[in-house]
Amino acid sequence: MSVDSTVTSPVLNTGWLYENSLRVILANQAPTGAIIASPNFGQYGYSWFRDGAFIALALADTGRPETIEAARRFHGWVNATIRRYRDLALNAIAKVKAGQTLDPVTDVLHCRYTVDGEPSQDDWVPFQIDGFGTWLYVLAEYCQRLEPAQAATELAGYSDAIVLLVDYLGALWQTPNYDCWEEHGDKIATSTLAALYGGLSRVADLAAYRPGDGVLENAATTAKNTAKDIKAYILAKGTVLDPVSAQRYLTKYCGGADPGELAGAVDSNLLWAAVPYGLWPVDDPLITTTVEKILRDLVASGQPDGTAGAHRYARDSYFGGGEWLLLTAWLAVVRLDQGDTAGAKALLGWIERQASPDGDMPEQTFEHMNRPDMLNHWIETWGEVANPLVWSHASYVTLVNRLRSAGLLD
Ligand code: BGC
Repeated sequence: MSVDSTVTSPVLNTGWLYENSLRVILANQAPTGAIIASPNFGQYGYSWFRDGAFIALALADTGRPETIEAARRFHGWVNATIRRYRDLALNAIAKVKAGQTLDPVTDVLHCRYTVDGEPSQDDWVPFQIDGFGTWLYVLAEYCQRLEPAQAATELAGYSDAIVLLVDYLGALWQTPNYDCWEEHGDKIATSTLAALYGGLSRVADLAAYRPGDGVLENAATTAKNTAKDIKAYILAKGTVLDPVSAQRYLTKYCGGADPGELAGAVDSNLLWAAVPYGLWPVDDPLITTTVEKILRDLVASGQPDGTAGAHRYARDSYFGGGEWLLLTAWLAVVRLDQGDTAGAKALLGWIERQASPDGDMPEQTFEHMNRPDMLNHWIETWGEVANPLVWSHASYVTLVNRLRSAGLLD
């Protein structure tokens, strides 16, 4: 491995944890470019578009030759995988356009694969479309790290996959599908739409590297229009009025006729609507109200003071519904962008204190569980919680990169 090998002793300070996180990420990338979610948790031995894209974002952000190269290899794997299942995607587009119902297992692009690009064989329904949006967004971020001529050369091989995804997402975005937590396949998750907006609104940036590529330019126009429709849909269906502040905030699911017990609930995944996807700036009242509600409902101390991390959502009972490191990192990134540097650094400290003595960062930890009664059920079902979770390490790397860029960390 070629990350900084001068920092090797397990001292759990930021410098060491950062280098260790890069080591964990690179160690979990296969020769094919795929990045598995976790090496020692059976259910997560796959490469997800979502996890992998967030990880590739951290790799590109880090900006070292070996991390840029790892990001390039991941993008190559995604590109090859999407092209391989092109007929499935075309069939899904045709079915939706003909008003037919999609089978969520056999008719759609899968969301996770073996490192060789075979769809996972497990019980989780593979119909999740957020990861395709995340990937388009992250591909645009990656290209920004390259010389424009190099980006143009690399993207030459990507046009088909990009155009296919623009059509696929354009056809399917209003079809209920499983959210980023693999749940509620009967609903449309606001964070899924945010990911699609994030990716589709960056297709124009990708097309700009390839002037004269008419097909890509047309796709960029289509993508822009779909992104606009998605944003309008979120405003109409994915917000409610907060009685505390009398302002609107984003909701976990787009309401519609039957939001049921989740009506008005928030989820920490809504943070991504602001950063990275940029649907609204961090100081927009919709975002500030959403962040305040997330702090009230999903952070035990109610504030970013470093005594608690972020839950996914209030009724989460998976492994007892603990606090997720990756979401805490994104909360910190958003607080940083909102000017709360003390909060961002306090949350960084919380994440660092959750690392195992060897520096591994788990998916979630258990000081403030929503449902302590459910922890053993999950341990008996699937074993100890995933540790390390590569996405936790990547989100930590993103946070450190941004604190360093802001001059707040050495
Ligand atoms: C999470 C997904 C994630 C997967 C692998 C699941 O528990 O809900 O968001 O993609 O783990 O990390």
